[in-house]
Amino acid sequence: MLTDAKAMLEASPDTRHTSPATRTAMNTRDRFPIFKTKTYLNSCSQGALSLDVQQAYETYLRDWDEKGSPWELWVERSETARQAFAGLINAEASEVADCTSVSAGVSAVASALDFSGERNRVVVSDFEFPTIGQIWHAQERRGAKVVHVPAAGNIIPMERFEEAIDDRTKIVSITHVCFRNGSRLDVPAIVEMAHRKGALVLLDAYQTLGTMPIDVKALKVDFLAGGVLKYLLASAGLAFIYVRKDLVPDLYPTTMGWFSQANIFAMDIYATTPSPTARRFGSGTPPVPCIYAGVAGMKLIQSAEPEKIEAHIREITGAIKEGAMRRGFNLASPVDPARHGALITIRSHKVDLLVKRLDADGVVTSSRDNNLRLSPHLYNNQKDVDTLFDCLMRHRELLV
Ligand SMILES: Cc1ncc(COP(=O)(O)O)c(C=O)c1O
Repeated sequence: MLTDAKAMLEASPDTRHTSPATRTAMNTRDRFPIFKTKTYLNSCSQGALSLDVQQAYETYLRDWDEKGSPWELWVERSETARQAFAGLINAEASEVADCTSVSAGVSAVASALDFSGERNRVVVSDFEFPTIGQIWHAQERRGAKVVHVPAAGNIIPMERFEEAIDDRTKIVSITHVCFRNGSRLDVPAIVEMAHRKGALVLLDAYQTLGTMPIDVKALKVDFLAGGVLKYLLASAGLAFIYVRKDLVPDLYPTTMGWFSQANIFAMDIYATTPSPTARRFGSGTPPVPCIYAGVAGMKLIQSAEPEKIEAHIREITGAIKEGAMRRGFNLASPVDPARHGALITIRSHKVDLLVKRLDADGVVTSSRDNNLRLSPHLYNNQKDVDTLFDCLMRHRELLV
C-alpha cells in the first residue's frame, strides 16, 4: 500500500494546454484513488480519501506499534493540528482549540456566555445546520432567547438580519454556506451590522473551509467553528473553534476537561485552572488518530492554495449550473457565484431515488430536503461534470 501510494504521489501529470483551474484538479486527482472507479461529488458531506490521509493513518498505527504510548508526541501532534488550522484562517494557534465536533466547540462557547441580563438574544439564521439551532435553544434554560431569521426562498435578505439584530442581541450565529441549498451569506455585512449593535458573531465555516481563503481578521468574526471531514479532506472526530484573542480571558466555559487546563498534567482534582488561551474551549483526551489525518488533509489544502481551489471550484460549479439550466433543471442554489459556495443543488421530486440511481451509476452525491447536492472540490474536473449530466439525463423524469 505504501509503495503504491508513493508511486502515485510522485507521478507528474501532463499539465500542458490546460486552464489553471484544470491544472489544480490534475495535480491532485491522482492522490484520490476513488476517482479510478467513481465520480465523487459529495465533499459537502465527506471529503474523498487521499493517499496522504491513508498514509497519515498508517503513520499513527506505526507510531503506536513502535513507540507504545508516545503521549508527548501525540500532544505535540494536537499542537501541530491547532497551528495548521490557525494558519488556514489567519489566526494565532493560541486562538484555536481542537475539539471532537463543531457541536462540542460551539457548545463550549455557548456555555461561556452570560444570558442573565438584558442582552440575552441569540440571532440564528434559517440556513443553520440543526446542531447550531439546537445548541442555542439549549441555552434557553440559562436565560437566552433565540430569534430566527427567516429565509426568502434560497436567500436571506439583509433587511431580515437588520430586523432581527438589536441592542438586546448577545450573539449572531450564522453559517457561511447553507448545507441544504448552498446559499452563501454576506458575512462582512452581517458582522458589520452585529458589531454596530454591540453583538458578537459566530461563523460556522464548515461548508467553506478548504474551498476558499478564510481570514478571521478580515472577516472580523469573534468565533469561527469548522471541522476537517468535508473540504479539509480528513475524517470525522476532529474540529476546531476559533475565539478572538481579546475575548478569551473573560470567557469561562463550563465544559471543562484536563486538556482545557492551563497545565494538562497538573492533575488537580481540587480546582480548575482553565488555559489562558483558547485551549480552554477544548475538553478531554484529543482524538489522536483523527489528528494525524486532519494534519494531512489541511496540508493538502494549504499546498493546493485556497485561492486556486476557489477559482477551480468556481469553474466547476459554473459548469454544473450552466449544464442544469441548459437542460431545464431547477437550480435550488442561487445562480450568482457570489451568493453560493462549493455546493450546488438541483430540485428533484424523488431525490432519495435519484441519489440511489446515481450511486448505482457510480456517481456519489447526497440530498437534503428535495435538493440533490453536488459539491465539487479541487479534485473534480469537467469529465466529472459530463459524466454527471449523462447520468442525470438518464433519470431526468426525477428532476423535471
Ligand atoms: C454547516 C455545518 N455545521 C455543522 C455541522 C455538524 O458538525 P458536527 O457534527 O461536527 O457538530 C455540519 C455537518 O454536516 C455542517 O454542514
